[in-house]
Amino acid sequence: MVIRENISLKGYNTFGIEARARYFIEITSVDMLRQALQLVGYPPIFVLSGGSNILLTDNLDALVLHLNIKGISVLWEDAGQVVIRAMAGENWHGLVQWALDKGYGGLENLSLIPGNTGTAPIQNIGAYGVELKDVFESCLAMDVADGKLVAFTKEDCAFGYRDSFFKNEGKGRFIITSVNLKLTKGKHQLHTDYGAIQAAIEAMGCQAPGVREVSEAVIAIRKSKLPDPKELGNSGSFFKNPVISREAYEQLKSRFPEAPVYQVSEEQYKVPAGWLIEQCGFKGKRFGAAGIHKDQALVLVNYGQASGREILDLARAIQRKVASTFHIEIEPEVNIIGSDF
Ligand code: EPU
Repeated sequence: MVIRENISLKGYNTFGIEARARYFIEITSVDMLRQALQLVGYPPIFVLSGGSNILLTDNLDALVLHLNIKGISVLWEDAGQVVIRAMAGENWHGLVQWALDKGYGGLENLSLIPGNTGTAPIQNIGAYGVELKDVFESCLAMDVADGKLVAFTKEDCAFGYRDSFFKNEGKGRFIITSVNLKLTKGKHQLHTDYGAIQAAIEAMGCQAPGVREVSEAVIAIRKSKLPDPKELGNSGSFFKNPVISREAYEQLKSRFPEAPVYQVSEEQYKVPAGWLIEQCGFKGKRFGAAGIHKDQALVLVNYGQASGREILDLARAIQRKVASTFHIEIEPEVNIIGSDF
């Protein structure tokens, strides 16, 4: 096991923020992870995966464990379904492509989401009408306290909108090492209700779409709206879409009848944070090296040399303006990592 010192994390976070790790280990196996957890005389650990959902606001006085455990296998299958296991360090989109190449369905709407498989359950990644929980079977996670592997069922994970057990009670206690997903082999259930998907499939001139075409449609939509982190540093949606009460919804609608709000339960309504931010005049604006994307106001971008603090200051200014204009609090979706992480 190689323990490196004073390592730049710029290439390890999709925001492209310069921050340094005091110690850094590339973890390539479950055994190696267990050994790293037993090291003594080092600062606290910080688990770094694909780096696509973090904002580094300072150097990390930490023992950074970069999870790079690879492997995809079939655990079980019958004529109609298959359960696959993907190790935590598998790139998520690579896994989606692997499934499509095998003709497996279920992941196509989640095409092109940045990040690695091991972090997908933490925030229950979702896009275009599908969430990870819809295909999730179980996962294995290492207990940080004793290095034992613990199996988690879907119920154990307590999935919610961009939320799970691992973001709440399980935070800092478990490191997900592998994820099992249940996919379809023959009769795929396509999710094409999201208007933009139908339009993209029609634009492709496709009469009878399959999982591959849905994936291509999702890729086309994402590419048209979301910046590629390789070209412009970003972490996808910076904020979650706020869920408001019926009372707050009625107040919002009376002041802004055009607000694109949708009902999620009898008493709860979701408001696109991108709309709130756009109404406040932020879309496409640039403040130094930090900015708000021109096609999707929910995405904050780094024009090259922004510090994590600059991005965070911009995020706070947006939160304040949205709160004073709409009386709605918006919360970051991205994990803000400070010196005390
Ligand atoms: N909108 C605006 N202005 C904007 C952006 C959005 O007015 O700048 C409004 C429009 O009315 C639009 C609506 O918001 O119809 C919804 O926009 P979009 O379909 O782009 O979805 P979103 O709610 O902004 C969420 C996820 C995305 C996911 C898309 C598609 C969250 C926080 N974000 O965005 O996830 O790709 O739906 O399902 O839930 C991510 O998590 O990183 C991410 C990109």
